[in-house]
Amino acid sequence: MNVWTFEKEEDLNAAGAGLIVSLLQAHPRATLGLATGSSPVGIYRHLIQLHRQGMVSFSRASSVNLDEYVGLEEGHPESYRSFMDQQLFSHIDISRENTFVPKGSAVDLEAECEGYEQLLEEKGPVDLQLLGIGHNGHIGFNEPGDHLTGRTHVVDLQEQTRQANARFFPSMDNVPRQAITMGIGTILKARQIVLVARGEEKAEIVHRAFRGPITTQCPASLLQCHPNTIVLLDQAAGRLF
Ligand code: GLP
Repeated sequence: MNVWTFEKEEDLNAAGAGLIVSLLQAHPRATLGLATGSSPVGIYRHLIQLHRQGMVSFSRASSVNLDEYVGLEEGHPESYRSFMDQQLFSHIDISRENTFVPKGSAVDLEAECEGYEQLLEEKGPVDLQLLGIGHNGHIGFNEPGDHLTGRTHVVDLQEQTRQANARFFPSMDNVPRQAITMGIGTILKARQIVLVARGEEKAEIVHRAFRGPITTQCPASLLQCHPNTIVLLDQAAGRLF
């Protein structure tokens, strides 16, 4: 596992974007595993800039997102589909039919999870999976507990996770209680994983995840088993390293 710590946010963003651009230059048809949350946004901004400068095209690439809230329609302003449209897809040349986000509004959620897992199998391994990390060590929406699930599944969100996401909703009651998420096994199949963490509030969990024991109580710690993971940190998030 490589851990890179950056003094300047722009350098972190450029490093993350650089990994994606190099991949697409070598493999224009690459499958990108994308994440939501505030952590990857700077990288998306940098990618948009590079795209505008003609440095990168996504026209033949595909993307698969990690997760989606259960019960939100695609067009809901806080759905992860809307987030991706706003923060990245509408600013680059990726074709919409090549972008995949689980459907949280599906009537049959089990079938949706199974279908998503099949899609991932058909597309082959994700070439580069971008990840953030929750305050409790979750990746995607794989919450800590006595056991973890390998495949794409429906998860009950922990109170801490709902509270961390409450800032985006009018009130706590509006924050979804469930999500669809790729499983830990699904995530670990990616050829390369790039986890991004920023800010003092992530310092402790980053330390636990990458210096502590591998445990289901901290799902991100399982990334220690992955042969090709890069962790990008700002100085505050890397303070305890
Ligand atoms: C949500 C997402 C995760 C993300 C986490 C951290 O729970 N499902 O994929 O990593 O939030 O978000 P942030 O980057 O805003 O701290």
